[in-house]
Amino acid sequence: TSSPPAPAFGKEKPQWNDFLHIDDFDKATIMKMLDRAAEVKALLKSGERVYLPFKGKTMAMIFAKPSMRTRVSFETGFFLLGGHAIYLGPDDIQMGKREETRDVARVLSRYNDVIMARVFAHQDILDLAKYSSVPVINGLTDYNHPCQIMADALTMIEHVGQLEGTKKLQVVYVGDGNNIVHSWLLLASVVPFHFVCACPKGFEPDQKTVEKARRAGISKIEITNDPKEAVRGADVVYSDVWASMGQKELHFELNLSLIDSNWQVDEQLMKLAGPRAYFMHCLPAERGVEVTDAVIEAPNSIVFAQAENRMHAQNAIMLHALGL
Ligand code: CP
Repeated sequence: TSSPPAPAFGKEKPQWNDFLHIDDFDKATIMKMLDRAAEVKALLKSGERVYLPFKGKTMAMIFAKPSMRTRVSFETGFFLLGGHAIYLGPDDIQMGKREETRDVARVLSRYNDVIMARVFAHQDILDLAKYSSVPVINGLTDYNHPCQIMADALTMIEHVGQLEGTKKLQVVYVGDGNNIVHSWLLLASVVPFHFVCACPKGFEPDQKTVEKARRAGISKIEITNDPKEAVRGADVVYSDVWASMGQKELHFELNLSLIDSNWQVDEQLMKLAGPRAYFMHCLPAERGVEVTDAVIEAPNSIVFAQAENRMHAQNAIMLHALGL
């Protein structure tokens, strides 16, 4: 049977209410969200609990895979700003199995003001957005992780001092070309900076996404197989767990090849990057695999500030999505 039309009740939501990919937004909107994140962060850090824009609102959170940061940062952030978040784990929801995604979208839209979802297949988040009548926020798919990249951008503004400038900001990712790399590339389509992905042959990011970032013509984009050369002059060296979307066998093979071929971010690699380079990682990290203990614990490691900023960046995303 053919798909039914999009939501048949309530107000049609404007397309900009969803938060699915960074490059769905222009630079001014992204920077405005980041400014808002910093403002609300300052308010929360001051201990004030008087700003309650989500009062009386509920958020459904769909998790098709385990998560610590995404769950706790969304739930805490929504609560601190007056709202109530409802966790739906793999045992609570049959989405894409016994219940179709389009039905889940329409039912949850009847109870909630916003839906956040962490799913495997990117098509699932697109379907949720298509059939829901409330904003949908992408909490990670096999293609991208836009909430993480907004938190990373906020962290870079705080530490490096800026987010943009092809000559001034160089972000070097070391690892496989995964959903985090795609998110960096999509950000580079809208905000100008210098992005380098150093990955082993055969683990390059999606070519269409690389081309999209290059076509936008505002950022310098490099894909290389040489991590030692790549990190020279970096402001930020960024790493991630290998094969993060549950590919266990691939993960095991990669761990072995990682140690053999020096793809691990260690003190030597950080030395090549130079003394002003920060280390970032979206976590969870497998210490001793993609990054050493010494690098994570070093003073220029900002991984925990990055983790905290998930909550602040997402608060701004939710405010934008709800038109507040
Ligand atoms: N970085 C991240 O998304 O962490 P979790 O898997 O813990 O949510």
